[in-house]
Amino acid sequence: MPKLYIETVGCQMNMLDSELVVASLRKEGYELVGTPREADTILFNTCSVRQHAEDKIYSALGRLKHAKKHNPKKIIGVLGCMAQKDQRLVFERAPYVDLVVGPGQLHQIPALLSEIAAGSGPRMEVSLDRAAGSRAEVERSFESYDPLRDHEMRPSPYQAFVRIMIGCDKFCTYCIVPKVRGPEQSRPAHQIEAEARQLAAEGCREITLLGQTVNSYKHTAGERTRRLSDLIALLHDIDGIDRIKFVTNFPKDMTDDLLAAVRDLPKCSHYLHVPAQSGSNAVLRRMKRGYTVEEYRDMLARVRDMIPDAAVTSDFIVGFCGETEEDFQASARLMREARFKNSFVFKYSERPGTKGAELLADDVPDDVKRRRNNELLAIQTEISEEDNQAFLGRQVEVLVEGKSKLNRGTSELPQLTGRTNCDRIVVFDGQERLVGQFLPVLVYDANAFTLFASIVTAHAGPEVYSLQAPHA
Ligand code: SAH
Ligand code: SF4
Ligand code: F3S
Repeated sequence: MPKLYIETVGCQMNMLDSELVVASLRKEGYELVGTPREADTILFNTCSVRQHAEDKIYSALGRLKHAKKHNPKKIIGVLGCMAQKDQRLVFERAPYVDLVVGPGQLHQIPALLSEIAAGSGPRMEVSLDRAAGSRAEVERSFESYDPLRDHEMRPSPYQAFVRIMIGCDKFCTYCIVPKVRGPEQSRPAHQIEAEARQLAAEGCREITLLGQTVNSYKHTAGERTRRLSDLIALLHDIDGIDRIKFVTNFPKDMTDDLLAAVRDLPKCSHYLHVPAQSGSNAVLRRMKRGYTVEEYRDMLARVRDMIPDAAVTSDFIVGFCGETEEDFQASARLMREARFKNSFVFKYSERPGTKGAELLADDVPDDVKRRRNNELLAIQTEISEEDNQAFLGRQVEVLVEGKSKLNRGTSELPQLTGRTNCDRIVVFDGQERLVGQFLPVLVYDANAFTLFASIVTAHAGPEVYSLQAPHA
């Protein structure tokens, strides 16, 4: 039985891709192992969004040089976004790599691996560059990879990612994703529905719909065009699926029909990741985000108005080309005002092949980027902590996800972790058999990142709680 080791970096899209690749290889008889040393085949599913993500993979490849010399039969493969971006350069930088496969060719991996094992020599399969053909040709070269799921491969049988679209057409000037993931293409609603029904039949209770700009989803079949709000309504009818999330939202596509769907359909999580990136109009313009900070604020006001308990989260980039101290203070102001539940903050990392790299100077020194990064994180932590304090003494409903990595427990019971409807992480003592259930818990402590709670052992019995509006 060939032994497979896979390492994954990057976003949820990559996590899903790796899950599917592993499932397809297990069908071929591969067995998953925990270290590269034990493996016959070593795969890296890569990310190009920041330089750091690429450096990590090239150093991991560097560490395999001797292993490969020692055992030339070991197959080493580089998959995903960096494979698509660097293509032959991967072989140049690490000549002992056997396989380079872009995110649009993942379905070919089992065949490519057996060809390599049979002595074909190194193989590379990638999609067309965005300017290398007509829109239709380029689209065809990026195939969405959505084979039948193997539920044993999911990290949790109760939760699953479901891809609803691939690619991106927004071309923010800093971002490599439109290049490496190709044109935006939405999957047919009926295919997504069939996948969700299968997941429900296997016992999955929560699905997270994935897209780079998930709320730009749009698919036309015959007369009917479906947007994300229509798709959610369709999936909402599936028995067994009790919670629906979707990431990542593009601020301009946060339309009222979508907000109304989240407000009116009780299975929708009240968690909205809507990255702002910056609070300065000058920076937003150079980023080509397509909105002003005033428009972002209006969008946020609509969210707060329609879904008062929504937990909104954001991404910020600090030190983008030409960002002044004033621009940065505008981001800090937006963060304070918006009171995001959480924010990811990134130092700008210039990506060759983007408009930003071509046209704008990466002129903010690294120590300034680092300081701004720390400042924003400190502001966010303060907000998150304050907002989590508001949960003290409150009862919330969680979907129990598994055993907690934290170990603060004093009782004999294991510590479990779950998430509220608004995506807050809750840690509590409980039996492991509760994993996969929705439970009421009472919050007794909180920090910026976690709520600590105890299971409510009510006289009324759990049925009563499941009737409550689950919008904690
Ligand atoms: N499609 C999503 C996320 C894309 S990548 C969206 O549009 O929001 C995730 C995050 O990485 C982005 O939101 C952005 O904050 C950050 N990012 C993207 N390119 C970057 C770069 N070149 N340098 C630093 N951060 C970057
Ligand atoms: Fe990148 Fe912008 Fe597309 Fe998000 S919307 S993936 S940041 S280009
Ligand atoms: Fe990275 Fe590709 Fe995702 S570049 S963030 S893994 S789409």
